[in-house]
Amino acid sequence: MPPTEPASPKPRLLTGDTPTGRLHLGHWVGSLENRVAMQDEYDCFFIIANAHAFTTRADQPEAIRQSVLDIALDYLAAGIDPQRSTIFVQSEIPAIAELTFFFAMLVPFGRLMRNPTLKDEIRDKQLGDNYSFGFLLYPVGQIADILAFRPKLVPVGEDQLAHLELTREVARRFNQYYCGIDPRTADADYVKAGGLFPIIEPKLGRVRRLVGTGAPNADGQLLKMSKSLNNAIFISDTPDTVRKKVMAMYTDPKRLRATDPGTVENNPLWIFHETFNPDQDWVRSAEEKYRAGAIGDVECKKKLVDVLTALIEPMRRRRLDFEKEPGHVLAVLREGAARANVVAAETLRLAKQALRQAY
Ligand code: TRP
Repeated sequence: MPPTEPASPKPRLLTGDTPTGRLHLGHWVGSLENRVAMQDEYDCFFIIANAHAFTTRADQPEAIRQSVLDIALDYLAAGIDPQRSTIFVQSEIPAIAELTFFFAMLVPFGRLMRNPTLKDEIRDKQLGDNYSFGFLLYPVGQIADILAFRPKLVPVGEDQLAHLELTREVARRFNQYYCGIDPRTADADYVKAGGLFPIIEPKLGRVRRLVGTGAPNADGQLLKMSKSLNNAIFISDTPDTVRKKVMAMYTDPKRLRATDPGTVENNPLWIFHETFNPDQDWVRSAEEKYRAGAIGDVECKKKLVDVLTALIEPMRRRRLDFEKEPGHVLAVLREGAARANVVAAETLRLAKQALRQAY
């Protein structure tokens, strides 16, 4: 191992969130539970991408600050352990901004404009053509978020795969242009061959896209859980809020009485049971009864309330404890930035060397 590599025996993992609100169950099954589970195996870095939040909310700095603190609290509440893992805020890491500039030259403009994640965002957030230049820049910034840490693994939700593919392309190109790596090199061999950046692997969560608690859209599609669609159950929700959200949850609208046959497919009630209920034998037999009109919605919803409360309540209580000492969260973020800066600054130094721009 070259002397410049920080000596951690564990491979690095990097992922994170844009601070646009609190984390919900979609985040939990999409990525958060993976992160909590992988803390022992990997040297984990979790980035709170505050600069990215400015892409669509440049006029709301105070709300972004609040979201940063909310996400940090949610991480701690979910079981991310700052002793083992590094939680940090993007804008505290100057090397990320510097790398973004150089990486921007390696992304063809047309390639960026065809990025399906950007297109979806423009549509879903109804940005029309009023999005900023910075909005287009953010996927490049995300490449820098990732490559600054030269991680092996990047756990994300399905919507992020386009950005990760771009990250892989930029890493290959950088290694080819500046580290003399043969373009025919297999992805897994770039670093071994002398490349600076690994060709990272995405890791999807066990559920790619969790539905929300609401009704389908005009095309009959259930919508994904999202704060802005008002169909989310947050990992900081009180038991009372969880109960209200579940009891009001969309199910089979054609089923008026518990004795009517119900549809299990495409029914959020059963999607949630299948996703969260540890007792899958109960779920299977209840689904049969539901189809036969032998069990009521209310009973199944009550069961779901218990299941979700058992998952969420320990997190919510931990969150309350952390909320009582705001100084602790800030200390975690400062300590995290210090650790992250060691790695990112080293990457930048090596990148400048490879770019022949170390003076
Ligand atoms: N764009 C991601 C999201 O909105 C958040 C993010 C920023 C991220 N930088 C990252 C995710 C780096 C993984 C790796 O969810």
